[in-house]
Amino acid sequence: MSRLINALVCASLWLLSPTMLFANSNEAETSTTVAGSFEAGKGTFLLNGKPFVVKAAELHYPRIPRDYWEHRIKMCKALGMNTICLYVFWNAHESEPDKFDFTGQNDLAEFIRLCKENDMYVILRPGPYVCAEWEMGGLPWWLLKKKDIRLREQDPYFMERVDKFQKAVAAQVADMTIANGGPIIMVQVENEYGSYGTDKEYVGAIRDMLRKNFGEEVTLFQCDWASNFLNNGLDDLIWTMNFGTGANIDKQFAKLKEVRPDSPLMCSEFWSGWFDKWGGNHETRAAENMIAGIDEMLSKGISFSLYMTHGGTNWGHWAGANSPGFAPDVTSYDYDAPISESGRPTAKYHALRETLAKYSDRKLPPVPKTILTIKIPEFGLTEVGPLFANLPAPHKDEKIKTMEEYNQGFGSILYRTVLPELPTSTLLTVNDAHDFAQIFLDGKYIGKLDRRLGEKSLQLPSVGKGVTLEILVEAMGRINFGRAIKDFKGITDNVTITENRDGHKFVCDLGDWEVFNLDDKEEFYNSMEYFPVEAFTPGDDGRMPRGVYRTTFNLNKTGDTFLNMETWGKGLVYVNGHPLGRFWEIGPQQTLYLPGCWLRKGENEIVIFDIIGPKKAVTEGLEKPIIDKLQQTAPITHRDATSTLDLSAETAVINGSFAPGNGWQEIDFDSPVKGRYVCLELLNSQDGGDEAAIAELYLTDADGKRISREPWKVRYADSEEVKKGNHAADKTFDLQESTYWSTVSGIAYPHSIVIDLGAPHTLRGLQYLPRMESHTPGAIKDFRIFVKETDFRY
Ligand code: GLA
Repeated sequence: MSRLINALVCASLWLLSPTMLFANSNEAETSTTVAGSFEAGKGTFLLNGKPFVVKAAELHYPRIPRDYWEHRIKMCKALGMNTICLYVFWNAHESEPDKFDFTGQNDLAEFIRLCKENDMYVILRPGPYVCAEWEMGGLPWWLLKKKDIRLREQDPYFMERVDKFQKAVAAQVADMTIANGGPIIMVQVENEYGSYGTDKEYVGAIRDMLRKNFGEEVTLFQCDWASNFLNNGLDDLIWTMNFGTGANIDKQFAKLKEVRPDSPLMCSEFWSGWFDKWGGNHETRAAENMIAGIDEMLSKGISFSLYMTHGGTNWGHWAGANSPGFAPDVTSYDYDAPISESGRPTAKYHALRETLAKYSDRKLPPVPKTILTIKIPEFGLTEVGPLFANLPAPHKDEKIKTMEEYNQGFGSILYRTVLPELPTSTLLTVNDAHDFAQIFLDGKYIGKLDRRLGEKSLQLPSVGKGVTLEILVEAMGRINFGRAIKDFKGITDNVTITENRDGHKFVCDLGDWEVFNLDDKEEFYNSMEYFPVEAFTPGDDGRMPRGVYRTTFNLNKTGDTFLNMETWGKGLVYVNGHPLGRFWEIGPQQTLYLPGCWLRKGENEIVIFDIIGPKKAVTEGLEKPIIDKLQQTAPITHRDATSTLDLSAETAVINGSFAPGNGWQEIDFDSPVKGRYVCLELLNSQDGGDEAAIAELYLTDADGKRISREPWKVRYADSEEVKKGNHAADKTFDLQESTYWSTVSGIAYPHSIVIDLGAPHTLRGLQYLPRMESHTPGAIKDFRIFVKETDFRY
């Protein structure tokens, strides 16, 4: 009898629509101040004891002008979300040790109050590390003043500082947890620790701090990737998965279901789009895939946070950089999210709203009105403070030091010394310039070293005695991902010149430096002596002087606008004292978002620091942003049209086949083999199609451990899809499992990629991750691997 009843209950459940299944549990009711509860129940979250599906919109308050906070929260509400998920960026709140700031743009408590007023729950992610394409993943640069610090580990100084920061955050918002009648339902412990290391004790120590600060009853969770969450998973925390649009959702949760069959399921970061780096294509992700993923999750009662629902802007110097290699992020954090950088609903927004409406038992609120956009006619910057005529008093140092050692966090730094006589041309090597160095001899520009491109050396002409060498280094964002977050700025070690004399190499370490700190601070820009721009004409390179440009402009109405920086070189912009962020002529971003709430009727002031120099010192306000215009000459692919890899004379180390399906696979060579250049020749695909795709690749050493991919470079890839999406071959070692190299559809197998490891290694095998999408397009079947000490023939 009871079996029959069970069968009937099951049958009737199947007849219910997903909406009905979760209907009465979805809507936020946060306006009450009565203590509530949020916890993990059997297969579902429980809000005040009832099943609840989290539909969270990720927003970062420091990335949105404060005056627009409520507008953006309402946009998320109207989209059909019931929760706001947010990071707390430590470095934005503690710019100097013990100098905490929770006011204005940093008023975390006020932002959370606004969420509550708008009946939205909150998920708090206070780090200490957050990643987020934010400078140093949210860690304050001044931690690096302790040169040997171990970040995100139980280094006593690091932990002491984390403790202080966590206490400061809790002092602001601990009384706003649901147990205290507030909107905060969950708090996150650290962030994707699996992409950094394995250290349960450290993660446990962060958990303990949060429990102490927020109370024993607070619901804590940790997020990671399906491939590594077990490495640091603590028994008493909820585990959630992060993955992107297009991923195979069942597969993403398969391991979790296996180890914890009763766990509620949540994708704590479902990536709606992706971030852009300087010199790369603008990233987009198809709306259909995002919506299909959300629809599938909701139909299965899976909670999610849509990262980002609204990305906003990396104001000032806050954009971070990705690694391996060095890939600095652009200022816009538009992310191809449903709500654009400037708060406008996109086509993705409207389509998603329709889907979310299906899962809501109430009519969604109307979409808030869009903020007015204005056009500002072109105007000139009338004054300039030329950089080299305005240097501050220098430090004198025998040996080179980093920016941090001079107590400088951001901006540029100039190193000057006098060269010995160099009768022949010599090689200048800077170990290492972080991040963009320009070299001058007696004031004349010689060349640049761009860390993105791995440039470290350039040839100097012969010089007589007493010539001045100057190295102007601009710091971009500190790396926010992987072990490389310990990212010192300026020159990190030394500067050498290498002379070739009588067939011998003489290396000389340069000393006796004068160092000028050009900190990204108001005092620096104000200290300049300004001259009328008309007093200068462009040099041979067509550029006006490097330096700080300023002017005022008048408006009779205010509104959002996009400052066109297309005639400028590289630097930073301020309007009425608000830092708008970095610009760089290479793109893809060409305009900077200028929110109307930072403008005033009447006179406004603009300051632009350009370390290369503008071609024309003018700008204008556009009604639409330009964030997808690359202007660089170097190709982003890895094959010149005339060369084709020739493997005819080579012998493969292994011929093999991968298995079908998602997930990591490992191949061992018959015996360890030494080499610097590794070629993977792909012979055919699992589905018989002509595309090949790889999400990630590792090589293992003689002990089976992964070798560092930091120095890796793609030497050759026969085909790369960079028109429809950003699928260049370096995506195979960008540490991101959701991005991938793909060949262009229509180009037949075999396909091949050659990686230069930077130095010879003894290799035992290879680890391969196919792209994540459910139908695994481009998954490779048969392959051959070649390893050589010297480069291949092309
Ligand atoms: C990870 C991090 C986020 C962000 C995204 C990529 O999931 O947790 O902070 O960096 O990647 O945008």
